[in-house]
Amino acid sequence: MGLSITVASGKGGTGKTVVAANLGVALAQLGKDVVILDADIEMANLELHLGLEGMKFTLHDVLAGEADVKDAIYEGPGGVKVIPAGISLDGLRKADPDRLEKVLNELLKTTEILIIDAPAGLGRSVVTALAAGQELLLVTNPEISAMSDALKTKIVAKKLGSHVLGVVLNRAGYDKSDLSIREVEVILEAKVLAVIPEDPEVRRSSAFGKPIVLANPNSPAAVAIRKLAAELVGEEFRPLEVTKEKFLDRLTKGFFGRG
Ligand SMILES: Nc1ncnc2c1ncn2[C@@H]1O[C@H](COP(=O)(O)OP(=O)(O)OP(=O)(O)O)[C@@H](O)[C@H]1O
Ligand SMILES: [Mg+2]
Repeated sequence: MGLSITVASGKGGTGKTVVAANLGVALAQLGKDVVILDADIEMANLELHLGLEGMKFTLHDVLAGEADVKDAIYEGPGGVKVIPAGISLDGLRKADPDRLEKVLNELLKTTEILIIDAPAGLGRSVVTALAAGQELLLVTNPEISAMSDALKTKIVAKKLGSHVLGVVLNRAGYDKSDLSIREVEVILEAKVLAVIPEDPEVRRSSAFGKPIVLANPNSPAAVAIRKLAAELVGEEFRPLEVTKEKFLDRLTKGFFGRG
């Protein structure tokens, strides 16, 4: 059985999907077999972040009993595998959320690393997602209004037998009123594993379906996520020198016509 990580926050819009998508790609780039599943069956959007909209089968079809989960796994950017939830209302209408637990358990048997992108709130599908993940990665923003939701999520996850991996502090450095890393750690009683700065490029790259770890791998936001990925699998983080070499290579060819 592989490793399963549920990315959750309680509060909506903290960056769960951005973190799930980018962490998945970063882990895939480290050679891991990674599946990201969008457990947000009502308000799905992982497929948009990864440029995989309009796929034939989605989790909705699987939950409707109309497709096998294997049919709904697609190769995404950077070699990550993705199970989109489906964004159509028709699909949502026929999906039976009761089947989610079985689907997740089935996936766990065949996947090296399963990343579950949880919905906001603490509704039924969140609880199913929290119960399925061995590890909880709490994504939160450095603001007091996000803390109580993150705390509730952590308490529920622990009750469900999940281990708290730690916190990703996203959209940091936006405002002077930001909570510090130390304050977040004290409130949530969990370690901050990564700090991702507020960066308009994160939003832009999501909008174009190309995660920031691919669009701009050496940006501070991408480096924070790539470092987290390396730490999770016990590897040393390496800056992407390759990119620079390729750039110099192209420059040399361009200027001197060498190659
Ligand atoms: N570090 C960041 N800098 C700038 N924009 C960000 C950052 N992280 C996330 N965003 C943007 O914030 C918005 C919400 O992010 P995302 O969809 O990942 O949140 P979520 O927690 O999954 O939301 P939901 O609760 O609706 O599932 C998106 O437009 C995303 O591009
Ligand atoms: Mg989301």
